[in-house]
Order: sequence, then structure tokens, then C-alpha cells
Amino acid sequence: MRKIIIAGNWKMNKAFSEAEDFMVELTDFLNVKKLGKVEVVVCSPSPYLEMASDFASENRVFIGAQNVNENDFGAYTGEISASMLASMEIDYCIIGHSERRKYYHETDDLINSKLKKLQEFEVVPILCIGETLEEREKGITEQVILSQLTKTLTNIKINNDLVIAYEPVWAIGTGRTATPQQAQEIHFLIRKWISEKFSSEISNSISILYGGSMKPENIRELLHQPDIDGGLIGGASLDIEKFKAMINTAVEL
Ligand code: 13P
Repeated sequence: MRKIIIAGNWKMNKAFSEAEDFMVELTDFLNVKKLGKVEVVVCSPSPYLEMASDFASENRVFIGAQNVNENDFGAYTGEISASMLASMEIDYCIIGHSERRKYYHETDDLINSKLKKLQEFEVVPILCIGETLEEREKGITEQVILSQLTKTLTNIKINNDLVIAYEPVWAIGTGRTATPQQAQEIHFLIRKWISEKFSSEISNSISILYGGSMKPENIRELLHQPDIDGGLIGGASLDIEKFKAMINTAVEL
């Protein structure tokens, strides 16, 4: 059975004390909760990773970074390596987020290099892919998704050490969510591609998350889709009550 992952992506938000308070409340909540096949992940800003990972004992909550550099080490001011993440026992790392593609001009080739580095150091990549509004309106969504998958997963071996997040760019931070049917269509496409390229075993075990204005009001319908295995949640993950509500929904399914 594949995991249902409820992952918060805090992006560049929260002061240190707010982040710490959130982690205290979250772990208090999770410690008395039966999670079943649900895994909870918090992708915190880099300066808070160590603090956040102190809360990660007993696998109640897993910690993710939001970015990694493709090099091993060296003169790359401001960057973080996969080996650093591994040395802090960080479990996950987001790569290929549309904000990094847009603002920092990250290409599929670069994302492919980052993915390889993360795998080398056994940090599980959360690979984000998704089309822009313009691409959707042009009717080339499937082409864009398949091209992103092909390029970012070139020469990659996967077991189930990869999470994919489908994040339609037009749904991120806009309040406009993909309908469950729109999301399911693309999740199915991704799983089919993984099955053809790798194996049906791998495609059945890999978690494919939806991201884009996911919130307590719409999570249930999205998670009901057969190929949606959780969410990568931005805005709504900043609020502990909303995050708890979304975990509750995932656990109840
Ligand atoms: P929002 O949930 O704020 O739309 O952000 C989604 C996202 O980008 C998660 O990585």
C-alpha cells in the first residue's frame, strides 16, 4: 500500500519562534494520533531545519528542505548540499518547484542533477512538475508534464525513494484549485508514465501528491481520487489548525 503524505511547504514564511511553536503544537497533536498509512512532512526554511528535525523523533513527523544545490561542496555562497541535509538527517527535499523554475531559472536538466545528488545521499526528493495557465489554455498540459518527467528523470533509478508532486502553476497561491477530475487525469498520466518507464510495481508504490490551493475545504474530494496520494500544501500549511484538519481528513479516509 502506498503512503498518503500530507506535506507542508512553508516557503519563506514564519519567524523562528512561530516555527517552533508550530512544531510543538503539531507534535503534541501527532503524538496522540493513530496515523495509519499517513505520513506528515514539514518542509521548513533552511535556517529552521535543525530545530524542526529535533521534533522528528519516532517518525511522527518527517522534515523536508525546500531546495538543494547540485554540487557536493565548495564555494557556492548561500547554498546547501545534499550531504549537509543527510548529515542533519533531513528526510525529504523539494526540487523543481515552479517558484524556483520561475524566479531562479531552474531548468529540468538542473533539477535532474539535484535529484541525482539527493538520491546519492538518501534524501527523498519531492519532485514538482506542473503546467502554466498558458500551457493549459493551449491544450498542451499532457505534453508539458511528460516532457518534465522525461527530462527530470533521465538516467535516474527509482525504487520508492521518490515522491512526485503535481502542482499546476495556475493553482499555486491563487485560491483556484484544480478540480479533482483535472488533478486525477494528470496523476493517472504520471503513474502510467512511471509504469511504462520503470515498472508497474514502482508506479503503484510511488506517492503522487497534489499541490495548488489545497485546504481543509477541498482536501477530502482531492484525496478521494484513486491516484492522489496526499498534498504538498503551501498557504494552508502555515496555519496549525488548518494543517491539523487536513491531517485528520487524510487519516479518516
Ligand atoms: P499553495 O497551497 O499556497 O497554493 O501552494 C502550493 C505549493 O506551491 C506547495 O508547494
